[in-house]
Parts: sequence; C-alpha cells; structure tokens
Amino acid sequence: MEQRKILVTSALPYANGDIHLGHLMEVIQTDIWVRLQQLQGHDCIYVCADDAHGTAIMLSAEAEGITPQQLIDRVNEQHQRDFSDFLINFDNYHSTHSEENRVLSESIYQALDDNGHIARRNIKQLFDPEKELFLADRYVTGTCPKCKTEDQYGDNCEACGSTYSPSELINPKSSISGATPVEKESEHFFFTLPVFHDMLKEWTRSGTLQDSVANKLSEWLDDELQEWDISRDAPYFGFEIPEAPGKYFYVWVDAPIGYMASFKNLCDRSDYDFDAYWNKDSSAELYHFIGKDIINFHTLFWPAMLTSAGYRTPTAVYAHGFLGVDGTKMSKSRGTFINARTYLDHLNPEYLRYYLAAKLSSGIDDLDLNLEDFVLRVNSDLVGKVVNIASRCAGFIGKGFAGKLASELDTPELLSEIQAAKPDITNHFNEREYGKAIRLIMALADKANQYINDKQPWVIAKTDKQSAELQQICSTGINAFRLLITYLKPVLPAMAEKAEEFLGVDPFNWADLDSLLTDHTINKFKPLMTRVETDKIEAMVAATQQEFEAQQKAENKTMENDDSGFEAEIEFDDFIKVDLRVAKIITAEQIEGADKLLKLNLDVGLDKSGAPLTRTVFSGIKSAYKPEDLIGKLTVVVANLKPRKMKFGKSEGMILAAGPGGEEIWLIEASAGAEPGMRVT
Ligand code: 2FM
Ligand code: ZN
Repeated sequence: MEQRKILVTSALPYANGDIHLGHLMEVIQTDIWVRLQQLQGHDCIYVCADDAHGTAIMLSAEAEGITPQQLIDRVNEQHQRDFSDFLINFDNYHSTHSEENRVLSESIYQALDDNGHIARRNIKQLFDPEKELFLADRYVTGTCPKCKTEDQYGDNCEACGSTYSPSELINPKSSISGATPVEKESEHFFFTLPVFHDMLKEWTRSGTLQDSVANKLSEWLDDELQEWDISRDAPYFGFEIPEAPGKYFYVWVDAPIGYMASFKNLCDRSDYDFDAYWNKDSSAELYHFIGKDIINFHTLFWPAMLTSAGYRTPTAVYAHGFLGVDGTKMSKSRGTFINARTYLDHLNPEYLRYYLAAKLSSGIDDLDLNLEDFVLRVNSDLVGKVVNIASRCAGFIGKGFAGKLASELDTPELLSEIQAAKPDITNHFNEREYGKAIRLIMALADKANQYINDKQPWVIAKTDKQSAELQQICSTGINAFRLLITYLKPVLPAMAEKAEEFLGVDPFNWADLDSLLTDHTINKFKPLMTRVETDKIEAMVAATQQEFEAQQKAENKTMENDDSGFEAEIEFDDFIKVDLRVAKIITAEQIEGADKLLKLNLDVGLDKSGAPLTRTVFSGIKSAYKPEDLIGKLTVVVANLKPRKMKFGKSEGMILAAGPGGEEIWLIEASAGAEPGMRVT
C-alpha cells in the first residue's frame, strides 16, 4: 500500500478559556481518525494551536491585571496538559501569537494586496469614548428598537428575534465600561470575497465537503457574497498590518493561518518539508476538523485566501455538531459546561473517548452525552464485553500452561469472522462513522463471549487443568480479544497499550489484524479497565456547579470594585411606580427539574374588595434556603411586576434578596409587626 502524506488539524481553541467537553468531542474525533491513519502506516501529522488574538483576550488579561502574553502562555500550558491527559496525540501544539504566524500572515496579506484583493474604505462603528475602543456588536447592549425589550445585544434581540445594527439600539451602552457609545468613522481593510464566487462554487461541490454542508453553502453562494472586513483598530491584541500603523489583522484572519504556522514550527525542527504540504501542486492531503458554527470561515474565506496567495486548498473540511449534556445545551450562564480538568479529576479519559466514539457519525447532528447511558454503555461494552473475554481466559493459560498459547486454535472460524470484518470496520472509521464501527466491534465481542459461554473452559479445567482442549479454547479467546482491542486501538490507545503488555507483543498496528498469536507466551493478566462508578459522575457534576458558583461570585466582586458599582440612574417617577409590599410566605416548594428556583406562594394582604390576595412567585434562592425554613417569613415583594411566563409556570412578582449567590443569598425580611400587604416606602 502506498504511504499517504496527510496533515490534519482541529479548530484552534481560544486562549482565554478552559478546555471543556465540547472541545474534547472535536479533538477526540480527530485524534481517532489520525491514529487510524497512523496504524495503517500512513504518514499522518496532527497539529493544533491556541487561538490567541482578539479583543476578548485583551480584555480578559486586563481584568486579571496581567499582560496578554502572560495570559496566553498560562492558558497554552493548561490546554496542552488537558489534551495530553485525554491522550490527544498532537505532533505539535503551537500558538497563533508566534513568529511563524506573524511571518505567514504578513506574507499572505501582502499577496492578497498585490493581487488587488484588498479594498480600503471608511466605515462607521460604535466607539466607547471611555475605553477608547471600537465596539464589536457583542460589546453593545441596549433596548430592542422593535419590541423595546431591554438589555439586548448589539445585533439581535433574544425576545423578538429581530436583527438590526447596534446603532439602532435605544439607549445603547458599552458593556465594557458602561459608557454611551458614539459613532465614529475609521478606515477598514476588506478582502474581496465576491471575486472568488466561481472558484468557491466549484470548490464546495468538488467532494471536499459533507453534502449537508455543501447544500448550506450553495444557498449562501446563491446570494451575493459580501466583502470581508479583515482589519481592526487599535487597541487590539494581534498582529499589526504591514504599513498600516494602528490597524490589526482581525483574529479570524490569522487563526486559520495558525494551522500553517503550527506545521511550520514543526518543520523547522524536523524533516518535514513545509512546501511539500502547502504548495499549489502538493500531493499531500489536508483535512480540517471543525464545529458547524465556523463553517463559513473554513469553506469560504479560508480557501479563497489560500487561492489568492497561491497555496493549495484543503482536501476536505469535516464539520461536526455540538455536544449537549443530559439533553441540554452546555451553557456558561447555567453552569453546565463540564471542564476537561473537572472530568479528569473524577473519571478515566478513555471512558469519554469510547462513549463519544460509540455515538459519533459523519454528520453535523448534535450529540448528547447522557450521563446515565454513559455509565451503562462503558460498563457493559468495555468492562462487561471486551475486557471480560481476556479475563475469562487468561487465568487458565497462566495456571495450566505457564502463559503459553496453544499452537493450534479451537474454532478458527470465530477468529476468521472477526478478521473478515476488517474492511467494513476500517471504512466506517475512515468515513468518521465511528458509531457504526463500534457497533460492529461490539457485535463481534458478543460472539466471542458467546463462544466462551458455549465452551465452558471452567468446566474442563475442573477435571484437567492441562488439557490441550482447554489451552486451545482459551488461546482462541485470547486471540479474539487481541483482534478486538486492535480494532479499538484508535479509540482506546492506553488500554491497547496495557493489552500489548499483557500479551507480550510489539505495539499493535492495522496489519496485525491479519495474523494470529499462537505458540507465544503471554504475561499475567491485570485488570485493563475498571467500571465507571456513579458517585464519580455525581461528584463531577457537583464540582462543575461549584466552579460555576465560585466564578459568579468572582464576577460579582469585580462589579463591586467598579467605579460606581451601580446601574444607570433612574428618575424618582420611575421609582414610585414600583409597588413594594410586605409579603408572608405561605408555602415554599421544590420544583422538579429546576436547579435554582423555588416556588413560593405569598400572602400580600387584601384586595380592594377585602378578599385575601396571594401571589405565586418563582425565586432563585434554592441554593440558599430549604423550603421548610421559609414558611411564615415576612419578606418584601414587587407586587406590581407584570406576570412573566417562565419555564415552570407564571411568576407574579419578585421577592427581594441580597448576596453574591450560592449559599450566600439572604432574603430581605420585614420586622415583626409588619403585616402582609403593607406598602414598603
Ligand atoms: O471558534 C473558535 O473557537 C475559534 N477559535 C476557532 C479557530 S479555528 C481556526 F481557524 F483557527
Ligand atoms: Zn425585540
């Protein structure tokens, strides 16, 4: 077989956040594919890097009181450690804030400019006069111009779904300083994407993309393409554009160039030849694994830029869906992002590698990590099926035959059947249909276990521990195990390594699937994997929640340290509209499925006719109060808040409480003597 030269990348994680399970799904998908190519004998290189530029990173560093360089260095180290502990086998992990990337970004830009593909014109943008920086849409909030909902982000309203430009917002505010932004004009540089319309139309249809992705793109390509704004004004953390002082490359320009830069950095300290991989006529293959949210960057801007600059385009771009946990989207604001490190503190990385592989397909559908299913799946498949085959046979070989496998095997058809599945399993893995590959492997593991059940070696061993039949049966079982664990090696590299030690063989590769192990001495069997314990899962989920609460506390602290710490002023007339009343808590209940809320029933006095007046209120104080401790307390309620429909029902007011969050929330209590319904002034 001809050895292919392959270069593979995963998307570059931003250098201001932790690696979480979402990133891991992507790198695990990529790593499995890369390992498969390597096991087949191909020269397959896997590079990645941190995506270190942009306003967000600049602001994160500032908030921590460190330089961006200090921040990205620290984060790079953490990212590398997390990935390595998940057995992600990068050949290089670099940073977009590197000399290689500066040189490449400048030269690509220069080529684009020389080819007439950079346009320059003035645009108006919102500008924060206090921070003296231009505000990207997500740093502006205000009232929706259409439905008048407050606190909406710069370009779209979460309440009514309309889109607009940030300058249309009513009462816009910079979310960085709180200042009212002003419109300001400055010169921007644009990449003339529309020039590449025909090239892209052809490229996206040339088998480089999944069908669903190609279809989506073809819709975009039917509309008119827009020129792409590739410059940002100072202050910005990034590379300054040559001969344009105060102008920086937008982070998304030098991010994909970071793939090249990471590879360049590897070439500079190895025998790999950069040009052989990136030249226009390169025979090497280039694959990018990415999430479906960044398809346009990789399938429009990136191939167009490469083409203009005279480089090759990717062989294929493989997009995947998002990872959810227990049926919900992972969300920073709800504290459901499980960090790589939090997972590692409690669980074996190969459990996750296996579970994700079992569920991954080549499409862009989202994937759910169902924690209950995770436990069942890993325990039943890996521990119950695969490891079990070896543990059922190894003892007899050790005791009766000093570890020696038979020279003749019993029922060789079982082993031929396992071997015959090689082309299908290989194809499924190659096509990123990992779930299908795993299903085939597990069906074969079932057959191997059935075989051992039928042959009952333990019955034979009772009468003769050294019978040739016993040795042959158990040797067949061990061979079945060897083949199955070889198939699983791209997914479970550490377990495969333990199996290699146990079998006393060289590292498995794909060609080993064509042979069998006979007349060979194996080592003492040690358990290759232990069961997933449910309490470890619970501990991981609890730790995630705690991290979230600690972070929220820290964020509230920074708010307190703010110059004022207060929201915008309101008029007295606004204040007196708020009808604050003493309320007595009549009932307080847990709500099934709610993490933070309690359901309260309040006595708020009497209505105009003298009938008792009550209000049902959902309040986010669950982490601080037991429902039974609340009953009978007198508190203060905003009694004239327009009822709001919430997930768990209608909320008819709001009770007042103070504190940083978590266990530290204190209900505002009215003194004894106050009566429900009294107005609070
Ligand atoms: O979306 C992201 O997380 C980006 N940091 C991915 C960059 S991928 C590449 F183009 F560099
Ligand atoms: Zn709206």
